Amino acid sequence: MHGLPQLDLPPLTGASGTVRLPGSKSISNRVLLLAGLAAGTTELHDVLTSDDTQVMLDALRTLGCGVESGARASWRIRGLGGRLAVHTADLFLGNAGTAMRPLAAALALLATTQGGSFTLRGVPRMHERPIGDLVDALRPLGCTIDALGTPGFPPLRLRGEAGGRLQLEQPIRVRGDVSSQFLTALLLALPLVAEAHDIAVEVHGELISRPYIEITLALLARFGIAVRRCGDARFVIPQGASYRSPGSLHVEGDASSASYFIAVGAIAAAGGAPVRLEGVGSDSIQGDIAFVDAARAMGAQVACGPGWIEARRGRWPLAGITIDANHIPDAAMTLAMMALYADGPTRITGIASWRVKETDRIAAMATELRKLGATVVAGADFIEVAPPPAPGAWRAAAIATYDDHRMAMCASLAAFNPLAGAHVPLRILEPRCVAKTFPDYFEALLGLAQAASADVPVLAIDGPTASGKGTLAAATAGALGFHLLDSGALYRATGLAAGWDGVALDDEERLAALAATLDLRFGQGDASGRIWLRGREVSDALRLEATGLAASRVSALPAVRRALHGLQLAFRRPPGLVADGRDMGSVVFPDAALKVFLTASVAERAERRHKQLISKGISSNIADLRADLEARDERDRRRAVAPLKPAADALLLDNSQLDIDASVSCVLGWWQERSPFERARERQARAGEMAPP
Ligand code: DC
Repeated sequence: MHGLPQLDLPPLTGASGTVRLPGSKSISNRVLLLAGLAAGTTELHDVLTSDDTQVMLDALRTLGCGVESGARASWRIRGLGGRLAVHTADLFLGNAGTAMRPLAAALALLATTQGGSFTLRGVPRMHERPIGDLVDALRPLGCTIDALGTPGFPPLRLRGEAGGRLQLEQPIRVRGDVSSQFLTALLLALPLVAEAHDIAVEVHGELISRPYIEITLALLARFGIAVRRCGDARFVIPQGASYRSPGSLHVEGDASSASYFIAVGAIAAAGGAPVRLEGVGSDSIQGDIAFVDAARAMGAQVACGPGWIEARRGRWPLAGITIDANHIPDAAMTLAMMALYADGPTRITGIASWRVKETDRIAAMATELRKLGATVVAGADFIEVAPPPAPGAWRAAAIATYDDHRMAMCASLAAFNPLAGAHVPLRILEPRCVAKTFPDYFEALLGLAQAASADVPVLAIDGPTASGKGTLAAATAGALGFHLLDSGALYRATGLAAGWDGVALDDEERLAALAATLDLRFGQGDASGRIWLRGREVSDALRLEATGLAASRVSALPAVRRALHGLQLAFRRPPGLVADGRDMGSVVFPDAALKVFLTASVAERAERRHKQLISKGISSNIADLRADLEARDERDRRRAVAPLKPAADALLLDNSQLDIDASVSCVLGWWQERSPFERARERQARAGEMAPP
């Protein structure tokens, strides 16, 4: 699932429910670093699990901090107490600005005074993100900083001899108008060297993204450092300041991540239940909480309390607004998406910093919004978005994400286009880049979202026993990011439950009652393969030959099949379903977008089953296995209800000579041509040809 090349979302018609937000990225990486620099041990709870925090944790470990994980996103960090434990290290920091900038400042100061040589590098995009203003602030202090690539950009080497002196008498000058992270980096690091005198930092140029400085100051205070402040221009670290661990600290939910769900509430939670967020609320120290005001200005109805937010639709369509979003640069991207659902243009200014983020976000947003049918004007520091002029102007678009988590999360908001009167599926390319801050974003979103069942695509894979359809279906579902239904497991569970309850395998009425009340639970992420029946894990018991035989008998009974029908339909949830069995394409999902029927030879299937049994240490005889398979095929074929046969429109796949990868590529190739997204694009292209020039 990790390398998912694309995720198709069907048109989504509504949303409601509760989301627990992952921890704030900005807070997580700041407190991880502060705990790593402080003396003693700090317990951090609800820390974000993501690419950006992982690189910080790895860096702390490399630098000799104690790093232990606990339950539920907790970490115990034993800090360095301001003394370097390791004097040379090469740190890879991915694309995490929140790791690169503060670690550069801290290690520059430590290398200069205690001696050492540290290299900081990241992914290619990190090497295009500026750090020159921070380097320019540190060099006059006496820090030796080598740019190993382009001057002003990572990778950097920070080095010095033990006993080096820092010039801290003069105020340190730093620019504030490119990224507030330079000031944050200095404020987080300077307490390392404040034993002798006050250290003043002066900000030149307008200070952008100021709320992030408030987070920095609030967290420094939690670690015992009271920075004195004169407006936005001068900050003083008092003499004698040193980090004091607060012992334990909770990270609040990410307010920027909250913005997507507030938007979902404003767009899609009509009438009844709102979208409720837990983990962040009115008591937040994060600047992006001010997104709530901007969303309200566009018409959202938002209620907040400590640790929670509820959003629902207010004004509809939303109102186009003009806003200076300097104070909420990250969450402002969400406003640009909400603009799709407004009754006029939305103009977002004060966002020059978008150009130096994970990607050039102004250019990226403009390109992708235009693909959807919006009209966009973009400038050096603003973007203006007018919604598609009519429902028919919405386009089924493949949205590129530029390895930018926020582009991917934003893109998903376009899937609610039915609420603007349109009806187009959406494709999000490389969706897994959300791992930077919200690895389960799409699962959380789709857990809230509703779609018309007919719009949720189904890929049916039917075939005889031991044809490898289970493996093929699971791999295909993983590649598409779809849910998985192993319908055989439902018949097997019915057979197993019958054995537990002493119900005869021909007692149709009682078996149907059993099937109708099966208490089955599938492991997280559906594809994990673990299954519980009445609270007992039965993953292995279901695979036993005896269970398969019982399943083959109960599955011939019409009342059992009827009882399991609704349960199977309930698996059809956004973004889509891969279902395997005998009658997925012919009976249960007759409208499946693609039906595959496997036709591996019985000799080959007996061979595979034989190998599988040997690998489990069970001895068997190929001739017996073959006879057994033939008998089951025959019973499945002959039965009156849902007999094993390809649906009229199924594509036959003889996988006797194919390995699993080849089978999966074949099925994915067929899917590429037949997916609802592809069909919508074809319709659009035809309509375009017919339209007058
Ligand atoms: O695919 P499997 O071996 O797990 O299936 C177990 C039995 O259930 C098999 O004998 C046929 C039956 N079955 C069915 O009748 N219809 C389905 N959709 C899936 C399985």
